[in-house]
Amino acid sequence: MSGQKVGFIGTGTITDAIVRGLLREPAALSRFMVSPRNAEIAAKLARDFAAVTVATDNQSIVKSCDTIVLAVRPQIARDVVRSLSFRTGQAVISVMAATNRTTLLGWIGSDVRLTQTIPLPFVAERRGITAIYPRDRETAAIFKVLGSIVQCDSGREYELLAAASSLMATYFGIMNGALEWVTGKGLSRDKSRAYLLPLFSELSRTALEAPSGVAFAELSRAFATRGGLNEQVLSDFEKHGGADALKTALNHVLARIEKGFSSEHVKP
Ligand SMILES: NC(=O)c1ccc[n+]([C@@H]2O[C@H](COP(=O)([O-])OP(=O)(O)OC[C@H]3O[C@@H](n4cnc5c(N)ncnc54)[C@H](OP(=O)(O)O)[C@@H]3O)[C@@H](O)[C@H]2O)c1
Repeated sequence: MSGQKVGFIGTGTITDAIVRGLLREPAALSRFMVSPRNAEIAAKLARDFAAVTVATDNQSIVKSCDTIVLAVRPQIARDVVRSLSFRTGQAVISVMAATNRTTLLGWIGSDVRLTQTIPLPFVAERRGITAIYPRDRETAAIFKVLGSIVQCDSGREYELLAAASSLMATYFGIMNGALEWVTGKGLSRDKSRAYLLPLFSELSRTALEAPSGVAFAELSRAFATRGGLNEQVLSDFEKHGGADALKTALNHVLARIEKGFSSEHVKP
């Protein structure tokens, strides 16, 4: 893997995170080429790392790199991808959310080895969890460096993880809701943050470190003393539609993903 040259079409937030993650010491790869847009992010990557060069245009990336990462926003993907000529058998990794596989292959227009992935911002610290579809040894090797991976055996699995990945803003939204509530009742912002941050991070750590057979529902029960305050809040939250709202939101985002990404099975 270390000799391969990886090129990025679209140098935005997620490309920045992936390149920085792969180039943390010890660097996993030594040759990267990024597209000239965004100019500022591309220039900073090239300044920070000798392994990164900025291409003059997108086609020169496809021409000179072994693996191409497609990382533009879905709204412009059609025009950007259709304007490029790929080599037969070239490795192409899409990180673009909710993009239909068949449509994407049609835009690419060559018989490439396409994998679709959902990297999360934590890849920059090599603490990501990346869904990959279909299974692919080289793509898996890249994202294993950046944290852990889940290789999907069907488009449906990939769609469900894409939906789950859209919970990030809501997670912080719950933290913010709790913070607003306590500060609104008069506790200082500093004390509220000092209390809530470890509360949330330790709960996540508890779930992460629990034996793999322990269900989240079991943890929820374990933290809800019978007749206690936690049990009361959980019961009120469910009674007032909290759990249903979460499932409804996930159903809605899944419907959007289904429109953009067909669930056909692709043989690895
Ligand atoms: N951010 C995440 O956490 C995340 C996670 C997983 C997947 N993704 C996916 O990754 C993709 C990129 O997301 P992002 O958050 O990195 O977005 P972003 O920060 O907006 O990056 C996209 C980049 O594409 C550049 N661009 C625009 N037109 C281009 C062209 N013709 N050729 C090459 N580059 C061009 C933009 O440059 P300008 O700034 O000059 O317009 C921008 O820097 C999306 O499809 C998204 O669904 C993102």
